[in-house]
Amino acid sequence: MPGTHDFVVVANRLPADIRVDSEGNITSTPAPGGLVTALAPVMRSQDGAWVGWSGSPDQHLDSFDTDGMHLVPVPLSEQEVERYYEGFSNATLWPLYHDVIVAPEYHRIWWNSYREVNQRFAEAAAGTAERGATVWVQDYQLQLVPEMLRRLRPDVRIGFFNHIPFPPVELFGQLPWRKQVIDGLLGADLVGFQRTGDAANFLRAVRRFTEHGTRGQQVTIGPHWNRPERHVRAGTFAISIDSAKVDEAARSEKTQQRAAQLRSELGDPDVLMLGVDRLDYTKGIRHRIKAFGELVAEKKLTVPRTALVQVASPSREQVEQYKTLRQEVEVMVGHINGDHGSWGRSAIYYMHHSYPFEEMVALYRAADVMLVTALRDGMNLVAKEYVAARPDLGGVLVLSEFAGAADELGQALLINPHDIEGTKAAMMEAATMSPAERRRRMRTLRKRVLENDVQGWAEKFLSVLQNMPQRNSHV
Ligand code: G6P
Repeated sequence: MPGTHDFVVVANRLPADIRVDSEGNITSTPAPGGLVTALAPVMRSQDGAWVGWSGSPDQHLDSFDTDGMHLVPVPLSEQEVERYYEGFSNATLWPLYHDVIVAPEYHRIWWNSYREVNQRFAEAAAGTAERGATVWVQDYQLQLVPEMLRRLRPDVRIGFFNHIPFPPVELFGQLPWRKQVIDGLLGADLVGFQRTGDAANFLRAVRRFTEHGTRGQQVTIGPHWNRPERHVRAGTFAISIDSAKVDEAARSEKTQQRAAQLRSELGDPDVLMLGVDRLDYTKGIRHRIKAFGELVAEKKLTVPRTALVQVASPSREQVEQYKTLRQEVEVMVGHINGDHGSWGRSAIYYMHHSYPFEEMVALYRAADVMLVTALRDGMNLVAKEYVAARPDLGGVLVLSEFAGAADELGQALLINPHDIEGTKAAMMEAATMSPAERRRRMRTLRKRVLENDVQGWAEKFLSVLQNMPQRNSHV
């Protein structure tokens, strides 16, 4: 039975923090991610719905309306959280798609759970979408949904966007279920990636592991049983942030005061360096701390004249590699602070929690040097947020060439984070850069980020999807 919504987003997580009290009443506070902000206008104008998991195991909730959006919760059992979410999504696909920074694990019971959960999401989407609706599936947790949904609802337009990198075929080929994943994605009309390299890797994988022909960005799927020939397009759409919102918050008097207060609480250092990440092994947090520790040990930077604030928000804490990373990072921070701290002054201020939006913008405004040292990252929105938060044209961005953002942010100091000496040199260059040079670079960076915001990203993706020939929708 088709549903009533013309536009449906399908993502692993719902864009809300959901609480259910003892009487079963639901309270939901919006979780203001970039994607929600970008899609809110389309959601409102097209009677949109969002299909996703509440974030808690064994929670069976009816769909409900919040903030001008219809939310359709998909339940996951505790075992599915272990096998589909922590297992296949985050201990198989996540490391495999991020250049095997840690070894991916391949387990058939995880794969089976991934398939079953993807089928549940596809069915929820099928029951939510109006005839001829547009359905936009998000990210690596749901790669089988496009094909599953097409089988259930050949009348809908299906877009898919991969927020993380798509790996080179030599690595992707390790996946025992590589063909099924490619077939899953090819159920979409449009498959979007962050970088041109990701789309190229995907097209190579299509050629290597399927019979389908490709021409430019297009894959042709020959007629099959009663289904006519159809075309799938693989395109590049670099995601961004709500740049105007960050810029405006950064300009406010309150933020500026808070930024000054933060600096003074940290002992008014000459150079304040900042790292902001989910605590994830892809982010190169250890490489960054090592480089900083060596600069301090070599007395090229001195404490407390220099300080590093590292905000590492908790993430996927049940997954083994994340537990190990936390221990390693905390031991490193402890060593450096033990060697170089003094009463009331640390070399590194390490925070294992997240902060509200306003506090993050104040931190960005307070920091002289922003360190984004990812070993591999689909885009890295922190880099873009830092730039948007500097209307004063102050601050220097040190950016890994392995983050998608490097394609657009060439005026940052680009580094290879594996090259510790090179990273140290860039950190010194950033710490000592003249105000005129900072302004020159920041002006160009800001132009890119303010002109290419997340609203533009969503519009571009949806307009390509909506302008694709309707031929695809014939049964
Ligand atoms: C990355 C992924 C998202 C994911 C987010 C947080 O940005 O691309 O799909 O939602 O990390 O991770 P989590 O596992 O907490 O949802």
